[in-house]
Amino acid sequence: MKDLQISTRETDIIIEELKNTLSLDGDVVEFGCYAGDTSVLLAEAMKTQHDKWLWLYDSFEGLPEKTAEDNTAAGWRFKKGELKVDAETVAHKFRKLQLPDPVIKKAWFQDLEDGDLPSQICFALLDGDFYASIKTSFALVDPRLEIGGIVIVHDYRNPELPGSAKAVNEFLEAHPNYQMRLSSGLAILQKY
Ligand SMILES: C[S@@+](CC[C@H](N)C(=O)[O-])C[C@H]1O[C@@H](n2cnc3c(N)ncnc32)[C@H](O)[C@@H]1O
Repeated sequence: MKDLQISTRETDIIIEELKNTLSLDGDVVEFGCYAGDTSVLLAEAMKTQHDKWLWLYDSFEGLPEKTAEDNTAAGWRFKKGELKVDAETVAHKFRKLQLPDPVIKKAWFQDLEDGDLPSQICFALLDGDFYASIKTSFALVDPRLEIGGIVIVHDYRNPELPGSAKAVNEFLEAHPNYQMRLSSGLAILQKY
């Protein structure tokens, strides 16, 4: 098994928050699904929701280039091309667990087009690690997110990935119709 990117405590929180949005209209999206370890947990929690799809996005080329916003005092740890995994690895994991097929999109987030996204979203997990990746994910999710819907951003408190918190803080400043709470390393934003 590949190394887990999100702790068990954090996945418990993510699943709890997801369940709270399942009564809303819209689908579930994960930006930066990597090997799909959290994706299968999302799918498991959605299993009885036959009207909802799970949409997974990743370059499947690993991380993109960093920008200045991702730099830390300790230097640049995560490198371009790191965390590369095949989309088939993710699809296989779903089949093995007999979970409904997700929609898997192999693309850089910034290249996604309207038809690549659900028209309505109830829950989004943003885990693209870098400033530009999180910023782009927000721009794609916000116009489609239902009122009461939730966006969870990973790595908000990770000093090695400062771009994540920077993108969240900038988004919140520009969008007063969202409220944020923090839980473990997660930023949990709800739309009002
Ligand atoms: C930390 S991993 C995601 C871990 C996953 N959510 C999990 O729980 O196992 C980050 C992923 O984001 C993807 N990624 C980052 N920025 C991206 C971008 N701009 N476009 C597409 N994929 C991106 C990387 O390829 C990588 O697989």
